[in-house]
Amino acid sequence: MTQSNREDLRHTFGEDPERYDRIRPTYPPELFTDLAPGPRVLEIGPGTGQATLPLARLGRAVTAVELSPTMAAVAARNLADHPNAEVVVAAFEDWPLPPEPFDLVLSATAFHWIDPAVRMRKSADALRPGGALAVISTHHVLGGTTRLFVDVQRCYERFDPDTPPNLRQQEASDIPRDTAEFDASGRFTPVTFHDYVWEQTYSRDQYLDLLLTYSNHRALRPDRQAGLLRCIGDMIDSHGGSITKRYLTQMAVARTKQAP
Ligand SMILES: C[S@@+](CC[C@H](N)C(=O)[O-])C[C@H]1O[C@@H](n2cnc3c(N)ncnc32)[C@H](O)[C@@H]1O
Repeated sequence: MTQSNREDLRHTFGEDPERYDRIRPTYPPELFTDLAPGPRVLEIGPGTGQATLPLARLGRAVTAVELSPTMAAVAARNLADHPNAEVVVAAFEDWPLPPEPFDLVLSATAFHWIDPAVRMRKSADALRPGGALAVISTHHVLGGTTRLFVDVQRCYERFDPDTPPNLRQQEASDIPRDTAEFDASGRFTPVTFHDYVWEQTYSRDQYLDLLLTYSNHRALRPDRQAGLLRCIGDMIDSHGGSITKRYLTQMAVARTKQAP
């Protein structure tokens, strides 16, 4: 993704925060208990609170920095019963770090939207020595209604000029465990990975709703977007009216190096 792509597309989330809130999934409960302990948590890109709410329920003191004012407003509404969580509207790159360091910096399906020249260094600067950075990424992997996803790919080939031909989901075990950015920063101990594989079944309408929360689908030309959704909807109908997606939630965790 080029810098200008990233800066254009990352604003699409705020266009329809209620849709995002009703259909985007949260994360497997074990992920939250696997996180490094410590009360002070900084979350980067909380959206409408998919990871923030479970963290707040566990009693963590969360400061969540969200670029989009409309997403932040829905997150604040979702967190209204949790005075231990605060949502700040800012680009993480520009947000002044508070003087007291955090025990944990976490970013769920959002780290790739942050400027690569800033995200590792600033996350490390936000942490106490020995504090943990947890980068959570979400992957659509092979499984669920596999045959239906093979057919759905024909809709992408017809309506989305950016889709690579014959794209197929990979097995969860084939998704790479990339440590390059942590390693290159020189600020972190070796990375540990936690993988969570799970499935979610969607009705036709729920799945089309979900697709409209993805920046690349939102950015399609309107006629192509309408054609794609119609085509996928018809495919789901012809396969019995529901679709099951297998997710790999991958969490990469590393700690800041202690002072020598
Ligand atoms: C794909 S959503 C993930 C939201 C949520 N964490 C989740 O797990 O579903 C990415 C979020 O990051 C936010 N975001 C993008 N760039 C950001 C930045 N530079 N600083 C803070 N938040 C940012 C977007 O507005 C959006 O809410």
